[in-house]
Amino acid sequence: MTDKLIIFDTTLRDGEQSPGASMTRDEKVRIARQLERLKVDVIEAGFAASSDGDFAAISAIAQVIKDSTVCSLARANEKDIGRAAEALKAANSKRIHTFIATSPLHMEKKLRMTPDQVFEQAKAAVRFARNHTNDIEFSPEDGYRSEVDFLCRVIEAVIAEGATTINVPDTVGYAVPELYGNFIKTLRERIPNSDKAVWSVHCHNDLGMGVANSLAGVKIGGARQIECTINGLGERAGNTSLEEVVMAIKTRKDYFDLAVGIDTTQIVPASKMVSQITGFVVQPNKAVVGANAFAHASGIHQDGVLKARDTYEIMRAEDVGWAANKIVLGKLSGRNAFKQRLQELGIELETETELNDAFSRFKALADQKAEIFDEDITAIVGNNAEEASDYYRFVSLSQRSETGERPFSKVIFKSGKEEFVSEAEGNGPVDATLNAIESKVKSGAEQLLYSVNAITTGTESQGEVTVRLAKGGRIVNGVGTDPDIVAASAKAYLAALNKLHDPSQHKLNAQMTV
Ligand code: KIV
Ligand code: ZN
Repeated sequence: MTDKLIIFDTTLRDGEQSPGASMTRDEKVRIARQLERLKVDVIEAGFAASSDGDFAAISAIAQVIKDSTVCSLARANEKDIGRAAEALKAANSKRIHTFIATSPLHMEKKLRMTPDQVFEQAKAAVRFARNHTNDIEFSPEDGYRSEVDFLCRVIEAVIAEGATTINVPDTVGYAVPELYGNFIKTLRERIPNSDKAVWSVHCHNDLGMGVANSLAGVKIGGARQIECTINGLGERAGNTSLEEVVMAIKTRKDYFDLAVGIDTTQIVPASKMVSQITGFVVQPNKAVVGANAFAHASGIHQDGVLKARDTYEIMRAEDVGWAANKIVLGKLSGRNAFKQRLQELGIELETETELNDAFSRFKALADQKAEIFDEDITAIVGNNAEEASDYYRFVSLSQRSETGERPFSKVIFKSGKEEFVSEAEGNGPVDATLNAIESKVKSGAEQLLYSVNAITTGTESQGEVTVRLAKGGRIVNGVGTDPDIVAASAKAYLAALNKLHDPSQHKLNAQMTV
């Protein structure tokens, strides 16, 4: 019988540790809903003890997700585990994922603990977690650089305490496929009770081998869970990419002989949503989800594909959710047509007010742009959705630029009932606009990134702008869309300022904690 491979998505936890990828509670809920549509088995929704914001996001996700297991990370101590259990209270199916570092380097330099202390703490943590759920995952952090004898001792003990999944992280992306696969195999062979747990792989991509290492952990090592993120999001070079491992297992079923429960047609929508929310643009030549992944530019390839697709295509674009840009709605479309299209796109707006707001933004866009594509709809519902809690709100903009003249911009925005009219010059229209806002807000934040992306194709497309700001050790990301990229820039800048203004965004990083 074909074994099932469990897909554990950690976009909302490990992926979010990527500087600038931090998401609000509502953004996380939107992504979690999409992960459920994608049919991932486990959603790691965050690290409950890291911040009030993360706790609230996990609780909200636990309340709405019905089909996937919802998981929270927790350090191996009672306080963290208690917090995780509380955040997960409402979940239909819940998992606590507890971890402690086991490599000599991490134990000595980071934890300042002896191996015996780590051993005892790992056991106690799993025992304590058992009071809250039977579904417990244990990770020896920096597991791949740990000493095998010690790792076997710890893992055997935590399985005896009731851990049901053992995850072996290559925390720093140091592994190579054959060695990592054999490492998992050795552990499974040497640990007497290894068959009482599901084995899992968690690989970082520092040497570009996250996907290859994960697949080797499965093929050589016999692991049956892969931890991964949409678009390979994650700190440094990222995590194993979900879309790549899933499509490798599916496309090479002849070799892996494993079943995955993923609805692959939801892969591209998930990729676009994560990219739009985090502002991490997907490189065009990225496997499966890159804009060029199915584009055949050379004459020979085009000719071949027209005669027989499989001459140059090993997967079908539509199987991973690529659809030709469709003009779906226009100026004359009514509220019902808009609502129906949202449903077809799997976008659920919770209240009538949200639907009405989205519809007015759609009408405003249709006045500016004759053809409205699915991507436009996703963007207007996602990026420019102003929340009642937003501190700053964009109102309007006018701007002047002429060759030989210094560009000038006037921006009107609101904070509560107060309206600000700000004016400034800059090196270009965007610079003038951001200077104008900053001249009133005086955030003093450092600008780490400014990027513009066309949502569909051609110059009639909406521009999607990402602005990344840093202040007081925090990095936030604002995204704005508009057919006018200067207005999109103003919206993105205000969105980033709103996040800086939100104290619930303070959080700990799992790998930086002790
Ligand atoms: O990379 C890592 O070691 C982790 C653990 C916290 C599981 O993300
Ligand atoms: Zn990790």
